[in-house]
Amino acid sequence: MKQQFLGISRIWILLFLLAFLFSGFFHKYFFQTNMCSGLVENYVAAMVLSAAGDALGYNNGNWEFCRQGNMIHGELAKLGGMENLDVESRKVSDDTVMHIATAEALVKAGTHIEPEKLYPLLAKKYKECMDDMDGRAPGGTCVSNAERLKPKIPNGWKIPFENHAGGCGAAMRAMCIGLRFPRPEQLPDLIRISIESGKMTHHHPTGYLGSLAAALFTSYAINRKPPNEWGRGLLDTLPKAKDFVIKSDHDVEANLEAWSYFESQWKSYLTKRGILDGESQPTFPEKYNVEARDEFYKKVSFSGWGGSSGHDAPMIAYDAILAAGDNWTELGHRAFFHGGDSDSTAAIAGAWWGAMFGFKGVSPVNYKMLEYRERLENLAKDLYHLV
Ligand SMILES: *[C@@H]1O[C@H](CO)[C@@H](O)[C@H](O)[C@H]1NC(C)=O
Ligand SMILES: [Mg+2]
Repeated sequence: MKQQFLGISRIWILLFLLAFLFSGFFHKYFFQTNMCSGLVENYVAAMVLSAAGDALGYNNGNWEFCRQGNMIHGELAKLGGMENLDVESRKVSDDTVMHIATAEALVKAGTHIEPEKLYPLLAKKYKECMDDMDGRAPGGTCVSNAERLKPKIPNGWKIPFENHAGGCGAAMRAMCIGLRFPRPEQLPDLIRISIESGKMTHHHPTGYLGSLAAALFTSYAINRKPPNEWGRGLLDTLPKAKDFVIKSDHDVEANLEAWSYFESQWKSYLTKRGILDGESQPTFPEKYNVEARDEFYKKVSFSGWGGSSGHDAPMIAYDAILAAGDNWTELGHRAFFHGGDSDSTAAIAGAWWGAMFGFKGVSPVNYKMLEYRERLENLAKDLYHLV
């Protein structure tokens, strides 16, 4: 009798333990799938809407190189506005092809993100993607420097400092780095990889800090950090970026000499919008229509083509994000269609917007028949699963 009692109680204890373990397991399982089903959509939207913005802003070259925002907006209206702008007949440009290259290298590296593994992969992808640039208007700096990369030899991914490598070619392809390293404790990897991947074609702080900004703001977007705080976050990250550049011991003096432009341009922009403190809400000029925006984009630019540099491509994208809120059409009006380097500001803004809002309110014709859509979706999912 006593023995049986003990036996039963042992079974009860065992059952209780099992139930406890399973409840924990299921709780975790459901919790994670719930989080997953929401967040993975933001990853997909970030990759896909970046490319959609690129294709729409590029418009097979007709709009990237049009210097008058008003003309573009006129043509857009004739085509039925953004809600009716079909992406099917519009190729993605160099921005997306290089963004895919970055993402493919990150996915291929998997958890092996140490420099000896990841950097040669990035260099290889940047080199190879140049075979897919027909009709996509790649930038001269990207083309000539990708050619110099030697992924097969040690340190062959390093190119020397260049005085004129401040273009936006590093920024336009870095958003997925923020998707791969979104956690605060991953910030050192985000800084290191955005800078080194940027340097592979744009070894100038104005160029590779644009890459840092594009990646950092994507990580903020995926974490739902309010956009008015992003600019301050960038300024607070720059000293860490500088430390990394000093430690990496590669043309340090030249880099430090050219350092201040990016930072001073951003400080001046954030001051103008009243958000240098990282708390206030942004303020915009009373009259800030297409023409006034063209004027402003030109003013913040290095040489008159708004958005063509590493500092102002993310800046113009950010300006659009701050004003558009969750309105995709408004984002397009400001970041995709203007007299500057519109496809790059579009690719960057599209990624940030998608990371925050998914596909909410986006007209399906804007992305449904997008070139490389499946590739982008799969990369997004792979990046999500690596985090
Ligand atoms: C979104 O922006 C567009 C373009 O400015 C505007 O026409 C539309 O009314 C806005 N939608 C909402 C819901 O505010
Ligand atoms: Mg382009």
